[in-house]
Amino acid sequence: MDTDRWKQQAAERAIGLVQDGMVLGLGTGSTAARFVDLVGERVRAGLKVLCVPTSEATRAQAERLGIPLATLDEQPFINLTVDGADEVDEQLRLIKGGGGALLYEKIVATASDRMVVIADASKRVATLGRFPLPVEVVRFGLTATRAMVEGLAEDVGCVGEVVLRMAANGQPFVTDAGNYILDCSFGAIEDPEALDEALKYVPGVVENGLFLGIADSAIIAGPEGLVVLDRDLGEE
Ligand code: A5P
Repeated sequence: MDTDRWKQQAAERAIGLVQDGMVLGLGTGSTAARFVDLVGERVRAGLKVLCVPTSEATRAQAERLGIPLATLDEQPFINLTVDGADEVDEQLRLIKGGGGALLYEKIVATASDRMVVIADASKRVATLGRFPLPVEVVRFGLTATRAMVEGLAEDVGCVGEVVLRMAANGQPFVTDAGNYILDCSFGAIEDPEALDEALKYVPGVVENGLFLGIADSAIIAGPEGLVVLDRDLGEE
């Protein structure tokens, strides 16, 4: 499938950013998994890196590939994190968390000198919000938290269905941190900063999937080839 090829192309471009001696943050999801595979190949060929995974799934993949791993507590300063995204806009604002790893992804990305997104062209949008925004919430008081999320989101013009994410076994999906996820189908999010701010007022919200001012560049592969969006350099 074309999408698979594009994910691979974006990952291959990102591996070119990796240098010997780096501490790397490893993202989560099907695109990031391509990058992790490539790191594994390079490590087998002699590359020296230390990697901090953003999820249990990525940790397990990296371990299988023999990639040297550290926790974020052992390596609190990361040189480069490469991760996927569910949406990326022209200002490098992201929606993440489709795979449920948004909390650890955001912690690792913000501990990084540089965060690079890898994605296929379907993820590039003019306005965030076609993809339901994942919001990680503590289990206690779920109904009250959901009501507050709906109310505060509405105050900033975001209205839509807010549903508890379910796992394949019919039980609520539980994140690596032991929390639940509310998927918020707000449609176009005209003011992501205002929504992010509003969600921070809800005590039961642990984090939300808006990554604002975090990504430094995005490598996007599609039918037109590779496009790089960069915070400093613009589009190339
Ligand atoms: C994981 O929680 C997400 O943030 C992923 O990075 C995002 O969902 C992109 O995943 P894919 O690369 O599988 O589309």
